[in-house]
Amino acid sequence: MDIKKRIDTLINEINKASYEYYALDNPSMTDQEYDDKYNELIRLEEKYPELKREDSPTNRVGGEAIDKFEKVTHNTPMLSFDDIFNSEEIELFDERIKKTIKNPEYTLEPKMDGLSGSLTYKDGVLVRAATRGDGVTGEDITINVKTIKSVPLHLSKKIDIEVRGEIYMSKLSFERANIERRKNNEKEFANPRNAAAGSVRQLDSKITAKRNLDFMAYFIPNPEKYGIKTQKESLDFLKELGFKTNYELNSLVHNSKEIEKYIEELGSKRESLPFAIDGVVIKVNSLADEDELGFTARVPRWGIAYKFPALEVLTKLNKIVFTVGRTGKITPNAYFDTVHVDGSLVSKATLHNSDYCIEKDIRVGDIISIRKAGDVIPEVVEVKLDRRDKELEPFKMIDKCPICNTELIRKDANHFCPNENCPARNIEKLIHYASRDAMNFDGFGERIIEDFYNMGYINNFSDFYDLGKYKDELMTLEGFGEKSINNLLEAIEKSKNNSLERLIYALGIRYVGKKTAKIFAYMFNDLDAFMASDYDKLKNINEIGEIIAKSVVDYFSDEDNLKEINKLRNLGINFKYFGTQIDTSNDKINNKTFVITGTLSKPRDYYKEILESLGGKVTESVTKKTDYVLLGENPGSKYDKAKELNITIISEDDFNDMI
Ligand code: IVH
Repeated sequence: MDIKKRIDTLINEINKASYEYYALDNPSMTDQEYDDKYNELIRLEEKYPELKREDSPTNRVGGEAIDKFEKVTHNTPMLSFDDIFNSEEIELFDERIKKTIKNPEYTLEPKMDGLSGSLTYKDGVLVRAATRGDGVTGEDITINVKTIKSVPLHLSKKIDIEVRGEIYMSKLSFERANIERRKNNEKEFANPRNAAAGSVRQLDSKITAKRNLDFMAYFIPNPEKYGIKTQKESLDFLKELGFKTNYELNSLVHNSKEIEKYIEELGSKRESLPFAIDGVVIKVNSLADEDELGFTARVPRWGIAYKFPALEVLTKLNKIVFTVGRTGKITPNAYFDTVHVDGSLVSKATLHNSDYCIEKDIRVGDIISIRKAGDVIPEVVEVKLDRRDKELEPFKMIDKCPICNTELIRKDANHFCPNENCPARNIEKLIHYASRDAMNFDGFGERIIEDFYNMGYINNFSDFYDLGKYKDELMTLEGFGEKSINNLLEAIEKSKNNSLERLIYALGIRYVGKKTAKIFAYMFNDLDAFMASDYDKLKNINEIGEIIAKSVVDYFSDEDNLKEINKLRNLGINFKYFGTQIDTSNDKINNKTFVITGTLSKPRDYYKEILESLGGKVTESVTKKTDYVLLGENPGSKYDKAKELNITIISEDDFNDMI
C-alpha cells in the first residue's frame, strides 16, 4: 500500500467530515467511521513520523507549551465599527449612507460575542493566526488556533489569503467548561466571551484544545484580489473555502425598517442560538459602495455595529447596606449608580455575606460589573481592581444588628442577629409567610407588609386573617381603596385552603425550604402529626438530616410558636396535605422534557419526582424534543447525543438552582 497516499486520503476524508460537522452542522459520516479513520491516521503517523503532515487533523490536540506569545503586525489594520444602540441611530446611519449611495444594500450578520482573530493562509495552508491586539499589533496564537476544529488547516483552494472572524466558545462548551471548573474548585468563567479569551491565550495549547473553541469567519481584507464584488460574495467564498459562516442567519436588506425587523427577529432567537451574540453587524454590501464611503480617522464609514441592550454593565459602588432577614441573617447589599441591565434599571444587588465581600475585595467607590443572574436577580460579577486608582477603605463586617443593636453571632459563612424579637426579623417573617411560594397572598407586596407592620396592624401570622376587622380604616390609607383592600382580604381568605406544604414552608422553620416542606407534608399528611413527630422519626426520613430534624423539634418546642399555630387552627387554616399536585409556576421546568444521565448524588427517582411535581417530563432517550440533560459523573452515550443535538446540559447545581 502507498502509505503517503493513504495518509492523504484519510486527511481529506477527515477534513471533509469535520467541515460538514463543524462548519455546516450537517454530518455525513457516523462518529464510529470518523473515529476509525482518525485512529488509523494516528497509527500511521506514529509508525511513519516522516510522513506526518503539518496540516494533519491530529495536530489539533495541541503541542508543546510555549513561554510567551510573539507579537505580530497586521498587514492591514484590524479595525472595528462604531457601536449604536437604538432605532434612531439605525435611521441616522441609513440616512448618512444614502447621502452618498443611492440605493444601498446592507448585509446583516449576527455580532458574534467572542474575540476577533486573523488567519493567514499560504498556498491554502494555515500559517499564522493572530489576535486583534490594538488593531495594528496582535499576538501570534497559531498553535492554539490550530486546535479549533472549525478552523480549516488547509483550504479547498491553494490560495494566499487572510481571513478574519470571531473566535468564540459555544454555550454548550461554556457550560461544560464551567462544570469542569466547579468540580475543580476553580473560579467559573463569567461568560462565553471571557472563556474564549482566556482559552485562546493559554500558553499550553493542550488546554486550549480541551476548551472546544469555535471560529466564525466574516471578513476578507482586500477581497477584490479574488474577484469578489460584495460582502455577500465574501461570505459565500469563505464558506466555499471551508469556513464556518453564519449563512443561515445572515440577511440582505435595503432600509432601516428592514434592519429593525431583522434585529427584532434575531433578538427573539438569541436565547436559543448555540452561541452568544451581542448585536447585529450592518455592512454595505457592494464593495464599490464601500470604497466610495471610505473611512473616518478611526473606523470604516460603510458599516456599523448595533448592540443589544447590555446584559453586563459597569457602575460605581456607592454604599454597602446591611439588612436583616427573617432568620436574623445579616446580608450586605451593594447600592450603586443606577444602570440599565438587559432592559431594566438596577441600583442594588446582594453581596450575600462577609466572606463573599472579602473574597471579591469589594470596596465602596469601586467600579463593579453587574449582570442579571438567571435574567432576574442582579448580581455583582466582578470588581474592576485595575480601575481602583486611589486608596479605598477595605470592606468591614458590622458586629451589631443594624436594627436592634444586638451583638451579632457568626455561623459558618453567615452572621445572625440572635434577637428573636428584632423588628427586622419579624417583618421578614411576615413577608415570607405571605410570599408566592408560601401562603401566596396575591397582591400583598413587601412594602404593604412593612407599612401594615409599622402601623401595628400585623405582628403575627394570625393577624393577617383579622385584617378584615380594620377594613374601613385600611381603606382610608393613602394608595388604598375599597377594591384594593377587598382584593387583599380575598387573597388571604383564599389561602386558607392551601395544601399543607405551603403552610409548613410559610412557618419559616429554619432550614425547611420549599422542597423539605413538601417532603414533610407528604410524609405526615397533616400538621398535627408533623408536630407530634420526634427527632428520631424525623431524622430517619430519607433526605432529612440531623440539622433539619433538630430545627423542627426546636420550632415546635417553642411556646409562642405553638400558640400561634393554635390560633391558625381556630381561624380555619387548612392543616391537611392534598396529595401530589403539579405546581406549574416554574417556567423553566413546567412542560419541559428532561433526560437524566450519569451518576448523581441521589437516586434518579429523586430528581424525577421533583421534576414531575413541577410539571416536567422525564424520558429515557435524548431526542430533538429533549430540553435539558441533567448530567452526572461518567455519563454514557446520552451525553454524546445531547452534544450532537445541541441540547442544554445542566449539572446538579444548575438543577438545584432551577427548582
Ligand atoms: S466585521 C471593520 N462581522 O464586532 C470591522 N465583525 O465592530 C470588520 N464582530 O471587533 C469586522 N461579529 O470582532 C464583523 N459578523 C461580524 C462580526 C464582527 C462580531 C466583532 C468584531 C469587531 C466588532 C465590530
